[in-house]
Amino acid sequence: MSIDAFALAEDLATQGQSHLLAGIDALPAEQRQTYLDRLAAVDWEELSHELPPPAAEEVGPSRVIDRAERQERQAALTEAGLAAYGAGQVAVLMVAGGMGSRLGFSGPKGCFEVGAHSGKSIYQIQAEKVLDAGRRHQCRIPFLVMTSPVTDAETREFFAANEYFGLEAEQLRFFSQGTVPSLSRSGQALLAGPGQLLENPDGHGGCFTALVGSGNLQRLRDEGIEYLVYIQVDNLLVPVDDPLLVGAAALEQAEVVTKVLAKAHPDEKVGHLVRVGEADRIIEYTELSPEDTRRRGADGELIYRWGSPAMHCWRVSFLSRLAEQGFRPPLHRSAKPLKAWVDGALNSVDGWKSERFIFDLIPEAKISIGLVIDRDDEFAPVKNAEGADSPDSARQLVSDCHRRWLEAAGVRVQLSEGQLIEISPRFAGSLASFQQRWDQRLQEVIGDYYLEGDQR
Ligand code: UD1
Repeated sequence: MSIDAFALAEDLATQGQSHLLAGIDALPAEQRQTYLDRLAAVDWEELSHELPPPAAEEVGPSRVIDRAERQERQAALTEAGLAAYGAGQVAVLMVAGGMGSRLGFSGPKGCFEVGAHSGKSIYQIQAEKVLDAGRRHQCRIPFLVMTSPVTDAETREFFAANEYFGLEAEQLRFFSQGTVPSLSRSGQALLAGPGQLLENPDGHGGCFTALVGSGNLQRLRDEGIEYLVYIQVDNLLVPVDDPLLVGAAALEQAEVVTKVLAKAHPDEKVGHLVRVGEADRIIEYTELSPEDTRRRGADGELIYRWGSPAMHCWRVSFLSRLAEQGFRPPLHRSAKPLKAWVDGALNSVDGWKSERFIFDLIPEAKISIGLVIDRDDEFAPVKNAEGADSPDSARQLVSDCHRRWLEAAGVRVQLSEGQLIEISPRFAGSLASFQQRWDQRLQEVIGDYYLEGDQR
């Protein structure tokens, strides 16, 4: 053992992880070194902590631009946002490192073909929205895609094989998040095989450290980008052309704006934007008891009334400040069934996965606000194989939304059960874009309808 290996052995012993060194002498030299290097790179101390939930009495409502205020300030907010897009100050960051296990699809979730008529993949739909936003604002919007070691190679190949869906190669920036060891319920790190730690992607919060570590944050600063529109790959209706959101960040001098929606019911499984003491933060439904979720404030309203659909606008200057401070979002544990190398074979183990959450940056912001959105216009999640939040439900939500675009333009729409409308983002990726491009080509839509983009 080298000197470093002795120091490592001591560290592992302090953290109750000595079992990881058992049998390493039997490993081939190269593999042993890679394994030891990885063991030395892990922050075992950080992994051993569990985050305490905030005391219930400290929790209150956040400052949120509600429907009435949004309506009143719509024009001013939109104008400020349009100016930022027009000045090339906006980039889009999409997190796509999750394993999509609930969807029951083996590849990256973004490769899943979801378009009702086009059969387009989720990646294509999101990329074409960026393309459309660039057309509307006459600029090349940087599109950052965070992958994980599990989705990285396939994602890059998929985009390359599809000629980046029309985006310029320099607009597209892939970077991979990190991983953290998965633990047994007693807190011991597990193996995936001899001389190989069992690890999981470090959560979407890993995008902050990876954004910094990959040099992409600095690149955004160098390009004069000030607003980062953050989206999750799995929301088909998520807007990327969003002057209202960016305008709210600009006019409120907010370091982060979080979109919120009125929860469908108190027990809806979402994160909640709340104020804890002096700072905003998001509390996951998993961290709350049923009694907590129903608690009401002095105004008689639910304290956990604002659900988070996981859409934010981050100021690049804020992210840079945190990067300079060496900030790292904390790890949250969740109980998961795992497959680990135990007793010389792969076995099912009840374990812990630890993940960082991007929204743990929110409490660090000097100014954080919420912005209410209409769920039907912006939220069509693809999480499960069937039922709620499935490809079928998301296609229906997209169709309902695109139907409203057409109807607002005076088109009569008649659909029978199961018939769907799909408007390609190559034609229009947002209502504003649709209104700009719609040329009254039809007065009536009867039955299934697909609108692809024209020549640009
Ligand atoms: C998430 C939010 C929840 C929000 C809901 C809205 C968390 C912990 N919860 O729940 O507050 O109400 O979305 O849809 O985020 N991802 C990575 N790397 C990872 C893990 C996830 O990039 O290591 C990406 C996924 O690709 C996906 C997104 O993060 O785009 C959300 O991940 P997921 O685990 O599906 O979150 P939810 O439990 O659905």
